[in-house]
Amino acid sequence: MITLKSVHEIELMRRAGKITAAARALAGEMVKPGVTTHEIDKAVYRFIKSQGAEPSFLNYSGYPASVCVSVNDEIIHGIPGPRVLKEGDIVSVDVGAYIGGFHGDCAATYPCGKISAEAQRLIDVTQQSFFEGIRFAREGQRLSDISAAVQKYVEDNGYSVVREYVGHGIGRKMHESPEVPNFGAPGHGPRLLRGMTIAVEPMVNAGGAAVRVMPDGWTVRTQDGSLAAHYENTILITDGEAELLTLPEI
Ligand code: MF3
Ligand code: CO
Repeated sequence: MITLKSVHEIELMRRAGKITAAARALAGEMVKPGVTTHEIDKAVYRFIKSQGAEPSFLNYSGYPASVCVSVNDEIIHGIPGPRVLKEGDIVSVDVGAYIGGFHGDCAATYPCGKISAEAQRLIDVTQQSFFEGIRFAREGQRLSDISAAVQKYVEDNGYSVVREYVGHGIGRKMHESPEVPNFGAPGHGPRLLRGMTIAVEPMVNAGGAAVRVMPDGWTVRTQDGSLAAHYENTILITDGEAELLTLPEI
């Protein structure tokens, strides 16, 4: 069942979204050589709590942190720890905040110091694939119109989309119906209606699409060791352009 949010519920989701966006921006600003991924987690935890919100990820299915920090060939769900970021890394941060009964969820990949031109292109294509997808995120379109547009843009640029993990509806629960894949033919899936709130989140590999999960049970990396990037926002479907609930960042 896909829930439609009322005007009041949308107002609450805007508040959750703003805090989530600010937490992502904070994490992104901390991406610098010499910083540990644990330091980013600690700062994000403190910030979310300071806003009167709760970190959505902490203890979610046993996840032990407030943010996912995934470096280079790690795609998603990297667990913060003693790892020290170094010049040239690309660092995906994913964060969720819960307040007033609703979640926000967003992610982005940030450069650590000076990065290669290819790494920057991967980040740019991943971010742009989100914006290509959400051109179709409006009342009357079918859900897979978004998926197909993301996939086409990524593949036209020579990269692969991850199949095993997808975007999702979001609201009172972090993961609601429907699933929002980043691949597939257009014209399928539910028709989009105003009041739907979804997280659209392309995960893009520079090489092949295949992934493997690390022995920690969380960290997902590219099977071929190629770089990966992630970009996500929580959005509201309207009768016009989608409203981005986790943008602008501040
Ligand atoms: N943004 C991710 C998602 O949409 C984060 C969930 S990871 C977990 O699924 F840490 F919370 F488990
Ligand atoms: Co998500």
